[in-house]
Amino acid sequence: MSTTAIFVIALIGGGILVAAGIFAVAWRRGPSAEPIVGEFDKEAAKRDMSARPAPEPAVTTAEAVAPETMPAEPVPPSIEDQREPVSADDLGVTRRKFLNRAALGLFGGGFLGSLGIAMLAFLWPKLKGGFGSKINAGPIAALRSQVILGDGSIKPLFFPEAQAWLVPMEASLMPGSSFDGLPVLAGADGGETGLMALWQKCVHLGCRVPECASSQGFECPCHGSKYNYHGEYDSGPAPRNLDRFALEEDAQGNLIIDTGTVLETPRAVVKTIAYPQGPSCL
Ligand code: FES
Repeated sequence: MSTTAIFVIALIGGGILVAAGIFAVAWRRGPSAEPIVGEFDKEAAKRDMSARPAPEPAVTTAEAVAPETMPAEPVPPSIEDQREPVSADDLGVTRRKFLNRAALGLFGGGFLGSLGIAMLAFLWPKLKGGFGSKINAGPIAALRSQVILGDGSIKPLFFPEAQAWLVPMEASLMPGSSFDGLPVLAGADGGETGLMALWQKCVHLGCRVPECASSQGFECPCHGSKYNYHGEYDSGPAPRNLDRFALEEDAQGNLIIDTGTVLETPRAVVKTIAYPQGPSCL
C-alpha cells in the first residue's frame, strides 16, 4: 500500500473518529428526562428599572395651564409588562436544537473535509506529474537499444517511475493479437521495432512481477502466474494478460507513458511470442 493511500486512510479514519466522538458527547448531553423550567426574575427587572436615570421633567408652557385643562397622556407599558415568560418547552427545544445542529455541523464538516482531502490525494499524482500522469521516458531510439541487445536477444527494461516493463514489439504482430487496435505500441513507424509498457502489477492479486531471463517471460512469485515477454497470459490464476499503459510518441521522438490510462486485455488466445524459451524461475 502506498504512503499516499495510508495517509488518506489515516485522515479519513481520524475524521470519522472525531465526528463520532462529538456526536457521542452531544447525544449524552441531549434532552434530560426532567422538564426545564424557566422563570421570570422580577427582582432583576426591578433592579434594571432602578438603575435607569430618572427622566428630566419637561419644562413647557403647559405648566401655566391648569392641570384640569390638560389632556391625559397615555402611560407607556413598563419593561416588566413587555417581557413574556419563556416557557419550559421553549427552553428545552432551543438547547436540544443547538446541540443537534452543532453535532450535525461538526460531523458533516468533518466528513466533507475528509472527502475533500481524499479527493485531493487521489488527484495529486496527476497534478504533480508522478505515477498516474503522463511520464516522459526519454528518446525511443535510446530505449530501444536497451531492450534489444547487440546479439538480438531481448532484455525488458524496468522503468520505475511508470512501474512498467518496457518490451519490444513488432507492428506486424499486432493484427489478431489480444491488444490489436489499442494504443499500446509506440515507435514502430517506418518498420522499426516499437515498444510496449507492461504494468509490473500482477493482475491476479497485485504482486510485483519480475522478469525471468531463462524462460523469457514474467513469472509471479506469489501464486505462480506466468506471462510471456509481451505480457500475454500463459498459466496460473491470473484472469487476463498483464495490463499495459497507453503510449504516445512526442514530436522529439520521446516515449510518453500514460500511466493514468491502463488497458486491460483478455487472456491471449493467439500468442505473439513463444513461451517458455527455457527453464522457469519458480
Ligand atoms: S498475485 Fe500474481 S499470481 Fe497471484
